[in-house]
Amino acid sequence: MCGIVGYIGKEEAAPILLDGLSKLEYRGYDSAGVAVFTGKELKVIKSKGRLKLLSDMLDGGRALPGTVGLGHTRWATHGEPSDLNAHPHLSHSGKIAVVHNGIIENYMRLKEMLLAKGVTFRSDTDTEVVAQLLDYFYEGDILKAVAKTVDRLEGSYALGIVCSDCPDRLVAARKDAPLILGYGKSCNFMASDVTAVIRYTKDVCYLDDGEIAVLKEGEITVYNSILTPVEKQRSRVDWEISAAEKGGYEHFMFKEIMEQPKAVRDTLSPRIKNGRVVFENLSLTEEYVRSLNRILIVACGSSYHVGMNAKYIMEKLLRKPVEVVLASEFRYCDPIVDESSLVIVISQSGETADTLAALREAKRRGARTLAVVNVVGSSIAKEANDVIYTWAGPEIAVATTKAYSTQLVILYLITLRFGELLGTIAPEEYDAIVAELQRIPSKIEEILEHREKIQYYASIYFNNSSIFFIGRNLDYAICMEGSLKLKEISYIHSEAYAAGELKHGTISLIEDGTLVVAMANHGRLFDKMVSNIKEVKARGADVLGLTGAKHARALEQVADNVISIPETHEILMPSLAVIPLQLFSYYVALQRGCDIDKPRNLAKSVTVE
Ligand code: F6R
Repeated sequence: MCGIVGYIGKEEAAPILLDGLSKLEYRGYDSAGVAVFTGKELKVIKSKGRLKLLSDMLDGGRALPGTVGLGHTRWATHGEPSDLNAHPHLSHSGKIAVVHNGIIENYMRLKEMLLAKGVTFRSDTDTEVVAQLLDYFYEGDILKAVAKTVDRLEGSYALGIVCSDCPDRLVAARKDAPLILGYGKSCNFMASDVTAVIRYTKDVCYLDDGEIAVLKEGEITVYNSILTPVEKQRSRVDWEISAAEKGGYEHFMFKEIMEQPKAVRDTLSPRIKNGRVVFENLSLTEEYVRSLNRILIVACGSSYHVGMNAKYIMEKLLRKPVEVVLASEFRYCDPIVDESSLVIVISQSGETADTLAALREAKRRGARTLAVVNVVGSSIAKEANDVIYTWAGPEIAVATTKAYSTQLVILYLITLRFGELLGTIAPEEYDAIVAELQRIPSKIEEILEHREKIQYYASIYFNNSSIFFIGRNLDYAICMEGSLKLKEISYIHSEAYAAGELKHGTISLIEDGTLVVAMANHGRLFDKMVSNIKEVKARGADVLGLTGAKHARALEQVADNVISIPETHEILMPSLAVIPLQLFSYYVALQRGCDIDKPRNLAKSVTVE
């Protein structure tokens, strides 16, 4: 939520800031702005609307000369999207400009204090108090003013600050919101995410909570909260700028759907050695796995849906109770967790505020935590007792696809490893699952190659006003993801139902022509699904069935249309079944002319509660 970027060096800053913002736009896109020191003063240009508007106003940056500046792309929290509420915010004196990602929770109290001292405010944002507070504390040393200011702030922040009295430096500060520093040649950067700087440098460091950094053209110094310099470890980003660009595809979402075979392969291959699942560098001991009483999986959105799959998979193969809890509920529900509970948190971004808070709550209560994360160096990755990375590469589209698929694969691997330790998976079954897991990338490729059929179904059904997804067991978990994908990018109302549950109320919504997507990937439940399909058909539904090749013929007898996918081990079917649903949502949204990569009201990384 909100992306910030800063540049200091010899080049013109505005084009670099705009370019960085274009990579961060997925974090929020209701307004954008830049502040550049022109040589005489700080000039702020900002506007409601997409970044393109700002870029046109600035002639791609050429209209705003200066070699130091900050940029921001916003997802509104406090104050509606408007020119005035857009960042950067200038202090009262006009000397200090601020960009911010996060929420200042005590901003009302601070604002009242400043208003009482005669400070006037221009916007409705929480961020403006930071700019005004900086002015209030500023006595010629911007670093000291920043330290005093952040000391008064409650909430979360990644801040970029520039002061016209000392335009040879930028100041950055963070607490509970991501911020990376990039080391260039005679230039330096700050940004919410590596994607914004990778075109210019692959050498980065991750700022930690409470740290403040001063960036000059030729050096970066990082301080702790009492302004003692601290040594930071630099990391080298090991992917190319092309990974964060569309590369000829019309949408990031489509590119990321097509990248899934590679992403799944990259995630699997380092963890399977000689047919065994191996996790290197985990502090989780074999004794602990044997001793744990229960597993909790905590996440939001699609990551939560991965957890729903994992519950079925783990309970079946490990015979341990697994509970899946929404992170936003977990953190306030007085959860029952202790040393004998393993809490697995799943997060693509590693920055989701609720998931991070849930992780902290679990740790506070003594649980062991294991994070499954895509973004290296993110807060969740850093704070969990153990982290397993999904090697999906940068995911830019707001609707997740490849991160989901790689998370799922990691949960299979964890299950296999635990099952081996617990002795709950028979050796032949273990071998069969591992062998099939390694075939998943090529089977995904097969589905992607035959995508025209799915595009055709999307062209028949894209005008439906309401679409239901029904399935049993793992299919139900996949229905949840299919339904979320559809509603978030196509704006069609949709619900996911456990097929047997529909007739307990929701079936009253089925009428002539209602589309029901029926998943039937489990042999032992196939006949039950056929009955459920007949029930909705009898009420006028149009049924699009999805099943493994073995059952396609039989499903054609009851459904209006059928999507058939390759067969695999039954517990691995979700990895294949989700692909047609992603494609279906994509093509439906395309037909409806939706802004697929930037759906309304959403942002990729939800760093506020
Ligand atoms: C939906 C989607 C979201 C995220 C959710 C959690 O397509 O992407 O539902 O899954 O916001 O985000 P992470 O995984 O970054 O914690």
